[in-house]
Amino acid sequence: MSKLIITGGETLRGEVRACGAKNAVLPILAATLLADGPVTIGNVPHLQDVTTTMELLGRLGAQLVVDEKLNIEVDPRCITSHTAPYELVRQMRASILVLGPLLARFGEAEVSLPGGCAIGSRPVNLHIKGLAAMGADIRVEEGYIRARCPRLKGARIVLDLVTVTGTENLMMAAALAQGTTILENAAREPEVVDLANCLNAMGAQVHGAGTDTLVIDGVDRLHGGQYRVLPDRIETGTYLAAAAITGGCVRVKDTRPDTLEAVLVKFEEAGAVITTGPDWIELDMQGRRPKAVHIRTAPYPAFPTDMQAQFCALNAVAEGVGTITETVFENRFMHINELSRMGAQFQLEGNTVISTGVAQLTAAPIMATDLRASASLVLAALVGKGDTVVDRVYHIDRGYDCIEEKLGSLGALIRRVP
Ligand code: EPU
Repeated sequence: MSKLIITGGETLRGEVRACGAKNAVLPILAATLLADGPVTIGNVPHLQDVTTTMELLGRLGAQLVVDEKLNIEVDPRCITSHTAPYELVRQMRASILVLGPLLARFGEAEVSLPGGCAIGSRPVNLHIKGLAAMGADIRVEEGYIRARCPRLKGARIVLDLVTVTGTENLMMAAALAQGTTILENAAREPEVVDLANCLNAMGAQVHGAGTDTLVIDGVDRLHGGQYRVLPDRIETGTYLAAAAITGGCVRVKDTRPDTLEAVLVKFEEAGAVITTGPDWIELDMQGRRPKAVHIRTAPYPAFPTDMQAQFCALNAVAEGVGTITETVFENRFMHINELSRMGAQFQLEGNTVISTGVAQLTAAPIMATDLRASASLVLAALVGKGDTVVDRVYHIDRGYDCIEEKLGSLGALIRRVP
């Protein structure tokens, strides 16, 4: 199992490019199952979760071709299986995203029920309830969700709470249903909008993406085509956080400033100077120590839970007392204990972490527990005194493309050891 060794103390400066968004490319790859011709996807990030999704599509029988620029062509015309097996779903919960497309396109689907995960229990009851409302005979047996329906029917569905992949699954299913589906309390995340745009480029009729009410007029078929995935706002935010925590200046290019507004406001409150262009964001900390901030995570457009851990690292070394309240997942503070091992001062009260910033963290052996938690550990290590060894970095590889190369190009002392 590889580890990252990071020598803290360097000020990060320079420019990096944002990759395509992990949480957009995964549903878009699943959406290719709905088409009756090949779909080519561009701006695909080089991530373990993408590899896992490709393996899943391959097991279903799709033919995949990857070119040297990492465009992926998926030809779904030769699908022979409608089963997402346990061994792939347990590696990546987002495998649940094939449930809606398989059912809508082939009339049946069998997807292993994802278990709990490091950040919370993460049930998929709303995916199941929504598909049932569209007429599916759907049951959970032997650890699998088994669904059947010759043709789904449009329905009015009010989601009990805002769910990103739940909205995506139901949107994909509704795209090929008979009649109109109205999805209320839908997720408004940019990745949901990107999926809607991709479906519409394949001939779907999805309206209202980016608002909390989606109206999807089902069509009889979706055709192949091409789609370019939007930039990753969380990867972007993580590199900006690396500049903020080290007192440096980093520009992230090929990104979308409009998808990060709530995060940029918090960087400004922490004392950063933010400048944006049409497709870039620059964060200049001007050598200053960050000021502690108060954050409450919530669905988009509020502050994203996927940036919470990174701001915990920032607050750990900031001036003053900060609070971070996590409202989306019930157990997303695993990084707190690891950061404390580096000298951070945290107090956990319910779903709020209260931090008292320390002037200096010190290196320690620490362990990644989930994707964004690992990003926060890397950020802390950038300012920890000495060599920090981050274990279990496979979590990072699920969502960050070449993190050590990108941070290295900004001046970080970081290397991977087997
Ligand atoms: N929930 C239910 N029932 C459901 C679905 C969700 O109770 O049927 C609950 C969850 O347990 C959670 C809340 O609703 O408490 C929101 O979860 P959501 O369904 O929105 O999360 P998700 O779709 O499983 C996606 C991202 C996550 C990101 C969350 C929140 C993908 C592939 N994953 O997960 O990304 O944190 O939305 O924005 O899009 C990450 O990239 O590190 C990551 C975990």
